[in-house]
Formats: sequence, structure tokens, C-alpha cells
Amino acid sequence: MTDDMLKFLKDKLNGFEPDTAIVLGSGLGSFTSLIKDPIIIPYADIPHAPTPSVSGHQGRFCAGIIGRHKVICLQGRTHLYEGLNPHMIAMSTQQLKDLGVKRFIATNAAGSLRADMPAGSLMLISDHINFSARNPLLGPQKGAHFPDMSAAYDADLRQKMLKIAKRENIKLHEGIYLMVLGPNYETPAEVRMFRNFGADAVGMSTVPEVITAVYCEMKVLGISVISNLGAGLNKDNLNHEDVLKTVTDAGSKLSLLLQRFLEEE
Ligand code: HPA
Repeated sequence: MTDDMLKFLKDKLNGFEPDTAIVLGSGLGSFTSLIKDPIIIPYADIPHAPTPSVSGHQGRFCAGIIGRHKVICLQGRTHLYEGLNPHMIAMSTQQLKDLGVKRFIATNAAGSLRADMPAGSLMLISDHINFSARNPLLGPQKGAHFPDMSAAYDADLRQKMLKIAKRENIKLHEGIYLMVLGPNYETPAEVRMFRNFGADAVGMSTVPEVITAVYCEMKVLGISVISNLGAGLNKDNLNHEDVLKTVTDAGSKLSLLLQRFLEEE
């Protein structure tokens, strides 16, 4: 199954070998307008590939040059809460490695667990907590088991991104991302518990991809767009449309950071 997908992607990319993959989370799809003459591959055309069923997620690869890099953007992702087997996420991420990708940049929308990090903020992920009770590496693996996760989010790439943000005058928080399975938002009690765990933001994605990317020895950078304060930290109820709107507004700041990063690093 993997070989089919890989061959299909290689044929479509026609000799283009991406070095950087960027997963564009909810509402961040327009980043790809920076690519001139992109190669576009809808997930639906790829043999056996899962396609996103959530609004805000387009579901296609968009490859081309940005700055100094050959990038492949994933415009939209599938989530475990859509019923996806975590193994599928492992396979898709492994494929990026097989296409030549060495750096894996994940973006996502997340709820803040800190009153001082309101909706519209950006958070550089320094580490994560896998609270999803799922793991993409379960089952027989080709490589070694028990990958080391003690430096999952590359310190050097993080420092470079922080420097760019400072120079561009864009506030970039740093914090720990906790993944829940979803699809419901948290209860206020869960938000308090996650805060006590030491997490700064909560979301429903990214961790399976990052675990696999680390396993595949890619360098990882992760940034959350804070779309809302977690349940109970705000008097408003949470809904997906508000989340998408905030993410799209804050997404322009993130696009600029990513663009500068690709131009310089
Ligand atoms: N919780 C979980 N996932 C999310 C949230 C949230 O508050 N906001 C955006 N994705």
C-alpha cells in the first residue's frame, strides 16, 4: 500500500525533491499562495490516502519553492477523531521522509490553558504531552522501537524562529502542547487538570505526526495558533466557526514568520 502511494507522489512531483514539509492546520491554507507554479496533488487522487472531512481543511499537497527551500505543504490534515487509524498518520509522515524531507514543520489551532495567552496568540511548541491514548508507532516497525523523545522539537530551529519573531516584532509565546483525542472540546475540569499537568495549550492533532517525524529522524518545529481560551477560562461557549475565524486572522502573522524562516534558515 505504501509503495503505491509513494510511487504516485514521486510521479506527480516529477523529480522535485522537497526538503521541508509544512502541515497547515485549520484556516492556514492560504500560506501556499507564496508558491509560484505549485505542484498540486489532492489527497483524494492518491491511492489509499485518507481525506479530511472537517471544514477549514482543504486536503491537498502543494509543492514548490519558498525562499531557499523546496517545500511540500500539506493543506489540511486528517485527525484521529475522524476515525483515522494512527498507523495511517505514521505512514503519511514516513512517506514525506521517503520523498526526501528532512525538516517537518507542524502548525495547528489550539485552545489556550493560560489566561495570559489569549485567542489570536502564537505559541512555539517546546514539548508535548500525548494525552490521546493513541500511538502511531504501535505494531511492527521497520526501524528501532522506543524512539527517544527527549528533544522532539529541535532546539536550534526553535531559537532561529524566536529570533525571527523578535525581529519582526511578532509576539511568540513558548509552551507545551497537549493532545486530546477529541472531537469534543474540553470541560472546565479537564482544562484545569491539563494546566496542572504543565501544559499551555490543548489541541487534537500534531502529536502523532511529530512522534513519527522524530522516529524518522526529521527535525521538527511546531507552532500553535491560539484560537480560543480553554473551556472555563472564558465566559463564551466554544464553536468551530469562531475558532476558524480567529485562526485565519492570526494565520497571517504565522505566514510571515514561516516565510521569513524559509528565506533565512
Ligand atoms: N481544545 C481542543 N482543541 C482545540 C481547541 C480547544 O480548545 N481549540 C482549537 N482546537
